[in-house]
Amino acid sequence: MINFNLQLPVHLFFGKDAHKNIASQIPSGSKVLVTYGGGSIKSNGVYDKVMAALEGFDVVEFGGIEANPEYDTLLRALDIIKKENITFMLAVGGGSVIDGTKFLSSAALYQGESPWDILQKGIRTEVGLPFGTVLTLPATGSEMNSGAVISRKSMNQKRPMGGPGLFPKFSICDPTVVASLPERQLSNGIVDAFTHVMEQYMTYPTAATLQDRISEGILATLIEIAPKVMKDPSDYDTAANFMWCCNMALNGIIQKGVPTDWSIHALGHEITALYGIDHARTLAIVLPSMYRYKADKKGAKLAQFAERVLGLSGSEAELATKAVDAIENFFHSLNVPTKLSAYEGMDAADKAPISIVENLEKVRTIKLGEHGDILRDDALTVLNSAY
Ligand code: NZQ
Ligand code: ZN
Repeated sequence: MINFNLQLPVHLFFGKDAHKNIASQIPSGSKVLVTYGGGSIKSNGVYDKVMAALEGFDVVEFGGIEANPEYDTLLRALDIIKKENITFMLAVGGGSVIDGTKFLSSAALYQGESPWDILQKGIRTEVGLPFGTVLTLPATGSEMNSGAVISRKSMNQKRPMGGPGLFPKFSICDPTVVASLPERQLSNGIVDAFTHVMEQYMTYPTAATLQDRISEGILATLIEIAPKVMKDPSDYDTAANFMWCCNMALNGIIQKGVPTDWSIHALGHEITALYGIDHARTLAIVLPSMYRYKADKKGAKLAQFAERVLGLSGSEAELATKAVDAIENFFHSLNVPTKLSAYEGMDAADKAPISIVENLEKVRTIKLGEHGDILRDDALTVLNSAY
């Protein structure tokens, strides 16, 4: 097993009425900036609950953080933080609002010339302005990790950032919010969490026996509950298992002691940056083509997944093929397409894949995957077959 260190500092409050813990977690006398998205929290009752929990605090609001949080929007929030002397933030939303708030946490204390440096130069944040989160969309695990991804449309960029200073102080995870999610966001959440596990599991066999079993447990649970969540998101226990799977998929535990891939996310972020396709949907486009392309190196783990999670039998090569087919069918069962060409406005077949590769090349050398052996031409081949 590879050496590791693990820091899990987020105080998680999980369950019905978890928002009642908010006030006790924010230092008294704090001036609180509540950040949120386009307004879903106002129609599903979350806003009222949060505001009631914040009674007695000096509160300022910043709404309008969009899906794939936009740098220019966040700069407006940064102005407010500075003008109002904000001392604590509460992010109320999905991955986008939480990630946007992580950027603000970093930028508020950043001493350099421009906050864009944090993204452009990949500066790790050791200390940030403290914040908590109220999760409204299970998907990213952002409520318990220290990473974020920020978009800058004017430059066609979507950049990751992170650091130990960006863990939320606490997160409120009340599964009753799942009831208000539209089908598209439910399916996105399932696909994103499923792919997060895959990026940390679908590599090559190591001696990380427990990590494998935990990952397989999350994958099997997602497959089991997916049709139930889609059919009735108001079923509390199903929603709770969905929320916990998404958290476990990217809270840091399953990546410890194992090699990780993340090539699907690297290409997926470029698809969103160029074409605005939802994050999870970009993963569904890349994953099947990537795994078919890498079936030689991933064969043993694909077969292990097919045997242990899908209960199939056969030779390693047969199982690997069946595994990728099954994952693709799983995405289709959620009405999530697995081809670029399923999306309107997509460049012609001869343009989209090369545009995606070139956009990534602007910011880094393409050397992806657990072996660092997915180079420019490999990425292009994968995207061509994903068209
Ligand atoms: O803006 P509002 O009106 O709130 O609507 C949102 C948004 O339109 C809506 N929504 C959220 N909660 C709802 C709801 N609608 C009804 N009822 C509710 N309870 O859902 C839409 C999508 O929200 P968003 O936050 O964008 O979705 P998600 O949680 O999937 O986050 C995606 C972002 O997270 C990044 C992605 O790249 C993308 O930018 N990721 C963050 C990661 C991390 N920090 O660890 C890892 C991931 O791999 C991912 O990259
Ligand atoms: Zn993701």
